[in-house]
Formats: sequence, C-alpha cells, structure tokens
Amino acid sequence: MENSIKTRRDFIRFLGYSSLTLSQISLLPSCTPKTKKENKFPNTQDDVVLADGLSYYPIISWGDQINKKEVFGFNNDFIALHSLSADKLIMWVNHEYVNPVFASGMERTKANIDIEKSLVGGSLLELRKQDGKWKFVQKSTFNRGVRAHTKIPFANGVKIKGSQIVEGTLGNCAGGKTPWGTFLSGEENYDSFYGERDLQTGEVNTKVSYLKWESIYPQNLPEHYGWVVEIDPFSGKAQKHTNLGRFAHESATTIISKDNKCVVYSGDDKNDQFIYKFISESHKNLKKGTLYVAQLETGKWLPLDLEKSPKLKTYFKSQIDVLTYARKAGEILGATKLHRPEDIEINPITKDVFISLTNQKKKGDFHGSILKISETDANHSSLTFKHETFIAGGENSGFSCPDNMVFDKNGNLWLVNDITGNAIGKAPYTAFGNNGLFIIPAKGPDAGKAIQVGSAPVEAEFTGLCFDPAGETLFVSVQHPGELTKDKNKPTSTWPTGKMPKPTVIAITGPLLEKYTR
Ligand code: FEO
Ligand code: CA
Ligand code: CA
Ligand code: CA
Repeated sequence: MENSIKTRRDFIRFLGYSSLTLSQISLLPSCTPKTKKENKFPNTQDDVVLADGLSYYPIISWGDQINKKEVFGFNNDFIALHSLSADKLIMWVNHEYVNPVFASGMERTKANIDIEKSLVGGSLLELRKQDGKWKFVQKSTFNRGVRAHTKIPFANGVKIKGSQIVEGTLGNCAGGKTPWGTFLSGEENYDSFYGERDLQTGEVNTKVSYLKWESIYPQNLPEHYGWVVEIDPFSGKAQKHTNLGRFAHESATTIISKDNKCVVYSGDDKNDQFIYKFISESHKNLKKGTLYVAQLETGKWLPLDLEKSPKLKTYFKSQIDVLTYARKAGEILGATKLHRPEDIEINPITKDVFISLTNQKKKGDFHGSILKISETDANHSSLTFKHETFIAGGENSGFSCPDNMVFDKNGNLWLVNDITGNAIGKAPYTAFGNNGLFIIPAKGPDAGKAIQVGSAPVEAEFTGLCFDPAGETLFVSVQHPGELTKDKNKPTSTWPTGKMPKPTVIAITGPLLEKYTR
C-alpha cells in the first residue's frame, strides 16, 4: 500500500529511532521491577515511582471527554496555567503527536488520519481545587480543543504561499506563556505530518512524513507549520506568529527585558540546529520586532533581517522567506550549530538563560548537557552574551539526555530527561533506568547536583513541568508510555489503567516538593 505506514520500522523511524533493527526492537527490556529498598533510583518499573515525601494523582488522560464533541488528545506535553482565583485555573496542554497503534490504525485512510487530526494540537481545561487537590471540571465551558483541523490565521494578516488562514496546529511540543496572559505553543516536528520542502528542488519531500497526512490533505503545505501559535485562554482563539521564525520550535520562553520589551527564546530540536530569540518592540504583543540567532563563538545575537544582515540578500528576496526558512538564514549568517536545543528556561534569581542540549549521537554526544547563556547586563534585549556549560549529562551527573525544565521561585531547577524508548537500559544508557525527574538545588550541600526524585513508566518521558501558583503542586505530563508497542493487545506498558497505556497529566505534591518551593 502506497498510503500506509507500511511497517513497524517506518513508525519507529518516525519516532527517531532510525538505527534500531527489528530484532533489536523485540529484545526491548521487559518491565521487571528492580527497585532497591534503600534507593529507588534508577528504576525500571512500569509506574510513576517517586521519592519518599512525594506522591501523585492523575488529572486527565488521553480519551477523556472534555466537552460533548471532543476528547483529551494524545501525547500530552507542555503545560501552562492561567490563574482565575486561588482555587480555579485554566490549563493549556499541548498534544504533540499520535501513536497510530493505539489511537487510530496504521492504514493511511482518511478515517484514521481524521482521528489523528482530532488528537494533536492542544486542550484548554478548567481545573478547580477541592479538598486540597486539583480536579478537572468536565462541565466547564472553558474546555475546548485547538486541533490539526482548527482554522488558524497568521498574525498581522501575513500570507504564506497565498494562505492567510491555514488548517490547524500540530507537533505541539513545549511552549511558553506571554506577560499578557496568553499561551504560546511550539510546532516542533511538523515534517512528520506533511513532509518538508526541499529547498534545492523546491518539491515537498514526503519521505520524512511518517504519518503521511499529505496523502489525504495535499493542500496543507509544510510552510503552514513549524511556527509558534498564540492561544487566548478564554476563547481558544489562535494565531500563528511568523515573526518568531519557522523551525522545529521546542519552546517559546518569554521575559520582559530591562528596556520593557517582550523577548521570546526558542530552540530548534534537530541535530546541528540553532537557538533563536525574538525581541518584540512592545511589552504587550509580538506584532513587530526582530528575530535573532545565536553565535556562541562571538557571543552575538545575529539579526535574521534582510536589511540588518545584507548577506541574506544573496539567497533571499523577501523577509517572509527569511523567516519561513529560518534554518537556511541562520546557516548563511554562521549561527552556532548545537546538539538539539530543547527546552529553554530562565532562572528567576540570576536571569541566566538555560538551554537543554539533549544529545547528538552522530557526533558521539550521547548524554547531552545544559547550556547557560548570560546576557550582557542581565538584559534580555542585549545583543551580546557569555555562555558556559552549566552541567553535562552522564554517569557522573546521574542523568542523560536533558529535556524539559522548570525553575521554582527559589531558583532550584527541576529537570526531566528523554532517553528514547529503544535505548533505555542499553549501552551507553544502562546506568540510567527509565526516564526520570531530577532536582538541581540552587543552594545547600547538594547545590548544582542532580538528585533523582521520580521515574517514569516503561518507554515514557515526563514533560510539561509546571508549578501551580501556590508552588504546592507540580503538574507533569506522562508522555508515550508503551511507545514501542507493536500490537495494542500486547502493550509494553499498561500504565496507568493496568491494561492500555494512556498518556496522562498528573499532579505531584508532598513535603519534599514544598521543601524546595516554599
Ligand atoms: Fe518534542 Fe524536542 O521534544
Ligand atoms: Ca521535548
Ligand atoms: Ca526529547
Ligand atoms: Ca517527547
């Protein structure tokens, strides 16, 4: 069949596990519990295992009804909150991608693809605190999906390849929250859905489109995706910001600079790709401004702007093309190639910018590191900076493949890691067990060290770390448990139902958490 994900190997490749053979897949580690009483971590149990002093409860899972027409999407990722009162929140949750084994079916039929389109994008949910616990309010009128079939305009009336309004959002990985209270969602691996333009031939390369949605919806061009989407928490109204450039946006981390401008940091999670920042001319919108790309060797932010960087005129005719093919523009300017920049977070005390460089196996970097950027005068609109490695992954530090992060208000860094499912438990990752949750304290005898406090179910990754306004609860996405399942009747994980694995948002609480966040 031309239009199907023909083999398990295709889907594994879609997930980024290209070097794995089918025989290796069948040798994946089983979920034998290995918990040592004296030390719970690393851990390989098919469960959310937490350090003493922490516990969790579920908030919502894939498939739960959020209103009469929509269910909570698949593979929940980034979480952001809008506080309505001390006990009432609007929560935004990204849904990054779907696993057809569980969600639809491997055949590339319109029916299967339409199911998948209804399960990616993001969800707005109302949560209320009752008896000390946050609960999803199923009847709330705030509950709604923004999905791969939702019509979304480009901001500022911009047209991309003739379209001002495009179909949907997808690949929604990490994100941010603006100072004016809206949510930002980063469209990351958009090429897995509708392919990617080959800039040499001008054609769409569909080999990279493992979900093959273009086979049913060829009008949805690759250039419609790979943007940052801004979502209004109350109405769900969304717009795509071309100003922030197009690439595999992992995050969209905002801060107001000393000269009162909104600055948005974003990493491009691909081998040898760049870190970007957008400096808005305003502190209350993203309508006008300049996108920059980082050159670490010189400590400079280089403008991706035809007028400010005339070198770009050798390749590009228009500014919108510079933004649409930002990777090419960054390459022309000599931006620094990095090992897959993932989440970006800003230390609330020092104002330093932290970037997870998760790994780059082709270059022998298996464990990744966290990069620290200190902007000149701690001003985020500065065009110069210094950088250093904050911490490197590996057996010495106790974690590998850093990914999502969040700072608590005291400057402690909460970190999760993402070793791909097929590599967990195998060399060079044998020391690490399942993916985990770590704290890197800002002060005290363990300052700067990674302490593991949580372990994810089999083949899952924790993502979307987000504290509630009181700092009493850490919301976490448990993404892709049982990801390598071939037959949904024989899942490799059964978390959390005991039968079928389900991506789920959980809430972590307890005295150990409050020891850091109070
Ligand atoms: Fe969706 Fe780069 O993680
Ligand atoms: Ca990530
Ligand atoms: Ca990752
Ligand atoms: Ca992920």
